[in-house]
Amino acid sequence: RVPGPCALVMFGVTGDLAQKKLLPAIYDLANRGLLPPGFALVGYGRRDWDTEQFTDYVSESVKAHARTPFRAEVFRQLAEGLRFVSGAFDSAEGFEALRSTLTEVDAAQGTEGNHVFYLSIPPAGFDQVIEQLRRHSLVDKTSTRPWSRVVIEKPFGHDLASARELEQRVSSVFNSNDVFRIDHYLGKETVQNLLALRFANQLFESIWNRNYVSHVQITMAEDIGIGGRAGYYDGIGAARDVIQNHLLQLLALVAMEEPTSFEAGNLRAEKEKLLAAARAPRSLKSHTARGQYTAGWAGGERVKGYLQEDGIPHDSQTETYAAFRVDIDNRRWAGVPFYLRAAKRMPRRVTEVALMMQPAPHLPFHLNDTEQLGANALVLRIQPDEGVALRFGAKVPATPMEIRDVTMDFNYGTSFAESSPEAYERLILDVMLGDPPLFPQHTEVELSWKILDPILDYWADKNTQPEGYAAGTWGPPSGKTMLERDGFVWRRP
Ligand code: BG6
Repeated sequence: RVPGPCALVMFGVTGDLAQKKLLPAIYDLANRGLLPPGFALVGYGRRDWDTEQFTDYVSESVKAHARTPFRAEVFRQLAEGLRFVSGAFDSAEGFEALRSTLTEVDAAQGTEGNHVFYLSIPPAGFDQVIEQLRRHSLVDKTSTRPWSRVVIEKPFGHDLASARELEQRVSSVFNSNDVFRIDHYLGKETVQNLLALRFANQLFESIWNRNYVSHVQITMAEDIGIGGRAGYYDGIGAARDVIQNHLLQLLALVAMEEPTSFEAGNLRAEKEKLLAAARAPRSLKSHTARGQYTAGWAGGERVKGYLQEDGIPHDSQTETYAAFRVDIDNRRWAGVPFYLRAAKRMPRRVTEVALMMQPAPHLPFHLNDTEQLGANALVLRIQPDEGVALRFGAKVPATPMEIRDVTMDFNYGTSFAESSPEAYERLILDVMLGDPPLFPQHTEVELSWKILDPILDYWADKNTQPEGYAAGTWGPPSGKTMLERDGFVWRRP
C-alpha cells in the first residue's frame, strides 16, 4: 500500500541512526515505489547547511547504507522534496523557519499539510522540540485532516517515573493515536514471523506451555562494543538500551495468548496482559547478573575495555552485559523461567529465542556413562541467518541405540526468494500509513519498566562495579551461575 501525501520532518538528521538507517530506509521505500507521489523530507538541525549541502549528505548516506541499488532517477525525484532548516531544538526562529518551509513544501510537493515529526534525538531534546511544535502551532490535536504524527525513538524514559512524565508531555501536544514509538525489533521480519509460527500452525501450540517447556532463553548478543556512542550509552547500559524494549517485546510475543485478530488494539491487549503477569525474580541476588567488558578480542583484533573507550568515565558502573530471570504468573507459564540476556562484545552477533523442552520422562534404552542427551529445543533465530531450528535426538547409524542431537533447520534465505525489507523501512511506511500494530503503546512501556525497575534499583543500590568479562567471551561468571542454580546452562548459539 502506498501512503497518502505527507512531509516528514526529521530532527537529529545528522545523527548516526538517521545516517545509517533512516535516510537509507526512506530511499529504499522510494526505490520500491512505496513513497507517496506528494512527499517531502525536511531535515532540521544545527548545521548551517543549505538544501544543496543537505542533498549531498542524503545522497552519501544512501549510497553507503541503502539496501537497494542506487538509481539516479529515483534519487533525483526524492531530492526535489528535500529541504533543510537550520536551527536548535529550542530556537523560536528555527521553528518559525520550519513553519514557513512546511508551508512552502506543502504547496510545491503537494504534501497537503500532513506532517510526520520524527524525533531521532536524545531524550533531553524531546521536551524542547515538543514545546516548540506546540508554540508554533505546528500540531493541531483536533484535526485529523490534515494530520500530524510524532515518532519517538527509545529510550522511553529512564525508569517508570520518567516514562510517565515523558508520556504526559507528549500527550499534551499529540493524540495518543498520533504517537508512534519505535521499537525497531518489531519491524524485523523474523519477529513478525514469530506470530506466524505460533498462530498459523497447529504443530506448536500444544507444546507451547509449562507442560512441555522447561525454560526459555532470550539472547541478544552483539560482537560490537559501544563504538562512538559513549554519550548515549554511558549511564543507560544494556538493560535500558535493549531489554526494556526489544527483549521484553520479544518476550511478550513469545509468551502471550492468541489475539482475536492482528488489529492493533487486540494485539496490544494480549501483550499488555502478558507483561502485566511478568515480574522480576524473587531473588535479585541469585537471578540477575551484570557485567562490563574488559580488554579482549573481537574479529581477531585486540579491543579496548569499556572503561578505556573514548568518552567513558574511568569509574563508570554502566553495564554492557545484563541478564536476569523473568517469571510469568499465569496458568500457561507458572514455574517456567524466562532468562533474558543482552550484551556487547560477545563472541558473535546473534539474537534468538530458544524454547527448551523438558527431558523425556523415561528412556527405554541405556545411555553410556559418557552420553548425555540434550533437551529438545525450538530455536527462533531473529538474526543473522534468520530461521527456525528444531533440535532433537536421533539414532546414530550402525550403533545398537546410540542417540545424538541433530538439528532440523529452516532458513529464510534459502526458502524464500523475496528479500526482507529493513525494519525501519517497514516502520516508516507504517507511520505514513497510520498503521499502528507494530508500535508499542505507553501502557506496554510502563509495564516493561515495572519489570525492570526493581532490578535497576537493586544494581544501583549495590553501587559497585559490574563484574568484568573479557571482550569476545560469553559474559561474566554470575551470568552462568544464575542458570546453573536452576539446573540449566545457556545455549551456545
Ligand atoms: C539498538 C541499540 O536499539 O539496537 C543498540 O540502541 C544496538 O545498542 C542495536 O546495537 C542493535 O540493533 P540490531 O537491529 O542490529 O540488532
